[in-house]
Amino acid sequence: MSVLVTGGTGYIGSHTCVVLIEAGYDVIIADNLYNSKLDVLDKIESITGKKPKFYCADVSNKEELDVIFKENKIDSILHFAGYKAVGESVGVPLKYYRNNLLGTIALAECALEYQVPKFIFSSSATVYGDGSVPYRESNPLLPSTNPYGETKVMSERILSDTAKVNPGLSVTLLRYFNPIGAHKSGLIGEIPVGTPNNLMPYITQVAKGKLAKLRVFGSDYDTVDGTGVRDFIHVVDLAYGHMAALEKMKQGVNVYNLGTGKGTSVLELIHTFQNVNNITIPYDIVDRRPGDVASSYADVSKAWEELGWKTEKSVEDMCRDSWFFEKNQ
Ligand code: WQD
Repeated sequence: MSVLVTGGTGYIGSHTCVVLIEAGYDVIIADNLYNSKLDVLDKIESITGKKPKFYCADVSNKEELDVIFKENKIDSILHFAGYKAVGESVGVPLKYYRNNLLGTIALAECALEYQVPKFIFSSSATVYGDGSVPYRESNPLLPSTNPYGETKVMSERILSDTAKVNPGLSVTLLRYFNPIGAHKSGLIGEIPVGTPNNLMPYITQVAKGKLAKLRVFGSDYDTVDGTGVRDFIHVVDLAYGHMAALEKMKQGVNVYNLGTGKGTSVLELIHTFQNVNNITIPYDIVDRRPGDVASSYADVSKAWEELGWKTEKSVEDMCRDSWFFEKNQ
């Protein structure tokens, strides 16, 4: 079985490549290295003993994709590649709409043209907007507060509409919650460009002394301790979720939440990080960050029942592995 992994040198993509290679899949990566480094291929090889075939390609460029599909018989597409900086997407919306939507469209065109039966798309819990928790797959998709989120909603629609009228193509939309953690080897993990926007990379950089202090955005939410609550999921569990989705793929369009089903507050995460790693994280409580919701966590029963997949790693594991990776940088 050969799988084309777009964005395969990125954070979630690289962990998924490891899981797939270890399970015996033939992995081909397409990535333009916009937000990742070529040496991730060597790291994947160190972990698995196998270096995946690599194309430095822009997935929004159909001609570049044609080369890959002509040279390889692809059985499945896992589409991770995309811009993901929420704040930047507000400032430069067209950059996000162009890259993320044209990538989805060009890959869907290839799926039809080269008769690829399976397509898995990296979506996000952001499609639920500020809806009521726990988020269920059947919840309405709410308007996002940023273009990044809109590209996820639109890509879901583009792929769903395409699969509906092309029975040879099945599409699975995976809505990720908050992936953190890293591979236990410490070789691959999240490497943010510039100052991190997301909580865990910020914490690890404070722990390392690269950043002075964490800012906790808001302490007056209606949550357990007033800080935001998120469904943090270990990136390796998330990677296994992709393999389960690939193996249990059903005809048509299917959508699954990939989370743990448990909410953890920002302060709880900080305290767990401090305890398991024996490090103090200095922080200040500041105003809410615009666009944030109070609580976001998944109802994961559909993925459990239909994919036979469950997360195994704890928040402690996530904190330990994130720090181990950062220390190795
Ligand atoms: C988590 C919590 C913050 C930073 C975003 C995107 C989503 C997905 C994942 C991916 C919130 C608080 C954060 C900090 C803080 N996109 N926080 N201090 O916003 O849930 O999700 O990333 O590619 O689409 O929206 O994740 O990690 O930014 O924030 O207090 O320095 O941590 O307010 O409550 P978020 P996050």
